[in-house]
Amino acid sequence: MKHSEAKIRIEKLRQEIEEHNHNYYVLNNPVISDFEYDLLLNELETLEKKFPELVTDDSPTKRVGSDITTEFRQYEHQYPMLSLGNTYNEDELREFNTRVEKANHAAAEYVCELKFDGASISITYRNGLLYRALTRGDGTRGDDVTLNIKTIKSIPHKITVKGIPEEFVMRGEILMPIEVFERLNEERNKDGLTPFANPRNAASGTLKLLDSRIVASRHLDCQFYFLLSENLPHDTHYDNLMEAARWGFRVSDSIKLCKNIEEVISFINYWESERKKLPFEIDGVVIKVNSLTLQSELGYTAKSPRWAIAYKYKAEQVTTRLLSVSFQVGRTGNVTPVANLEPVLLAGSTVKRATLHNADQINLLDLHLDDMVYVEKGGEIIPKIVGVDHSSRAKGSKPVVFINTCPECGTPLVRNEGEANHFCPNYLHCPPQLKGRIEHFISRKAMDIDGLGEETIDLLFSKGLIRNYADLYELKAEQLVPLERLGEKSAGNIIRSIRASLETPYHRVLFALGIRHVGETVAKTIASRFSSIDDLMKADNEQLKSIREIGPKIASSIVAFFSDPDNILIINRLRSFGINFSGDKKTDITGDKLKGKSILISGVFTKHSREEYKYLIEKNGGRNVSALSGNTSFILAGENMGPSKRLKAEEAGIPLMSESEFLKLIGEE
Ligand code: IVH
Repeated sequence: MKHSEAKIRIEKLRQEIEEHNHNYYVLNNPVISDFEYDLLLNELETLEKKFPELVTDDSPTKRVGSDITTEFRQYEHQYPMLSLGNTYNEDELREFNTRVEKANHAAAEYVCELKFDGASISITYRNGLLYRALTRGDGTRGDDVTLNIKTIKSIPHKITVKGIPEEFVMRGEILMPIEVFERLNEERNKDGLTPFANPRNAASGTLKLLDSRIVASRHLDCQFYFLLSENLPHDTHYDNLMEAARWGFRVSDSIKLCKNIEEVISFINYWESERKKLPFEIDGVVIKVNSLTLQSELGYTAKSPRWAIAYKYKAEQVTTRLLSVSFQVGRTGNVTPVANLEPVLLAGSTVKRATLHNADQINLLDLHLDDMVYVEKGGEIIPKIVGVDHSSRAKGSKPVVFINTCPECGTPLVRNEGEANHFCPNYLHCPPQLKGRIEHFISRKAMDIDGLGEETIDLLFSKGLIRNYADLYELKAEQLVPLERLGEKSAGNIIRSIRASLETPYHRVLFALGIRHVGETVAKTIASRFSSIDDLMKADNEQLKSIREIGPKIASSIVAFFSDPDNILIINRLRSFGINFSGDKKTDITGDKLKGKSILISGVFTKHSREEYKYLIEKNGGRNVSALSGNTSFILAGENMGPSKRLKAEEAGIPLMSESEFLKLIGEE
């Protein structure tokens, strides 16, 4: 690969990985399996090795994914919380062993542990009392979730055993037992809430709830696997864990001390099948060097210890027959192919359908009707087809072809350049798009209109009472009462909650509009940059693209949305009803204190988010730059700024400015 090609690919991979990190750690909603994620990361690592000049400090290969949110206070970890290198095959595990043995000049003892699939937690104890619990965060600082952690019964608040270190840190994994997870999802389904994709997401989502009473009701559990202190009781990992168990910490009894790599491999093989009997989910086995002396000799990479590795189990796979392919039209007009399968049991549930993503995926798989296909469940609820057994294909079987016209309204489908999806452009009349947009508008994270669900929307739509979301605000109770299933009481409730939705904050209104590619996060960003919808409507492609999170695809989709006269009509109607079309912006200062200055933001901040700083820079006449150059005026440096960037700045004589100095400069502090 040429240097220029590698550069493009590296940037693309980094962007994709960051997006998946955000989905996984912040939104608790991964869209690809761990295996696929690891493939992306591996590719990036390999390219960075080949082109070391393209390595940057902030590459996802050098940092752990961050779960930091704005809702909690953050504190620094006394010991950084790293991640683990991982592998899916025995050869790489043996290579790990060779490296360890080389450093040890002999076979090494390993501790094998289950790799619990939950959310990691780091709890500091001082003088025997639980002092503070932090999430992993970005590895350097984490969210303070002490109150929530204190509701978990298996976590001790007080250690009464004599002779414990004055201060120590216990690390472990917060888990949601499968049974609790299933019950919770049943309830969520009943309440019309989106179910959690898996116990891991449920556990980490619960940990970040703001109301500890709800956390307490969710019955989380914890397994501890790491003791850290300046005064450790023993010089091996195993003995320290056993000691912690004596102090009252829940340490798994599946831990095994192994004398060599062969014993490690039998442990892995044993748990590959036994794991299905566990009351919680594990996604692999963690192998750690037992001797602390050998651990410190082996040391760390930027991201993970060299003395430990995770062996991950691949997602479960089954074979079944492809019966047919249907095409679903979503609310944004996206057409998704769905495979209808001969029902088959997979990871505890019967699978009848699997997603095929898009036309490329169908071509890549070279899928024919009646094929025997491999189906897998990754980090998502919806299983997918990962391969085809070509050897068993019947002669003359027909290839699956992607449709040319919309199955709902017959309009020819469109595929934009550079995009993977086909979509139906009949934005104004395609029924699932019309209905879908209303359903999205009323959903919990958007306008959160209680009492209206998919079925009621269907009903109102079929009776011709609504065609778009602005129509909702003109509904009258008298129109609803005569409809089947709706009585006076629910009609009244619906009208009341539609009215109450007028209070919804601006950023959620922006999300509710259902602009293609504008999800919750993008909507928030836009709301913090454009104080009103009128400002946003005036923005052109270039202005939108200058915002870091907004690429050309999102920018043109926003511009297209506001160039459509029908949308403007709807927006004007919503405005006349009193919807919030302005207001999320934190400050309204406009000044020239930073006029002519090019400023680079680096590190982690405590007083404002990065996004807010970018906004403040622009509002004060400054320019945000993304790379250091001779023209950079100064670096707005938060904590945890990469050492090589610091060095580069020093060499180029570019001053660093702290968060509070900066705020003083612009008159904010
Ligand atoms: S040890 C420096 N042991 O896996 C090593 N981690 O990818 C620290 N995990 O963030 C981790 N089970 O959340 C360790 N028995 C175990 C584990 C375990 C699950 C998680 C943990 C960590 C992640 C690393």
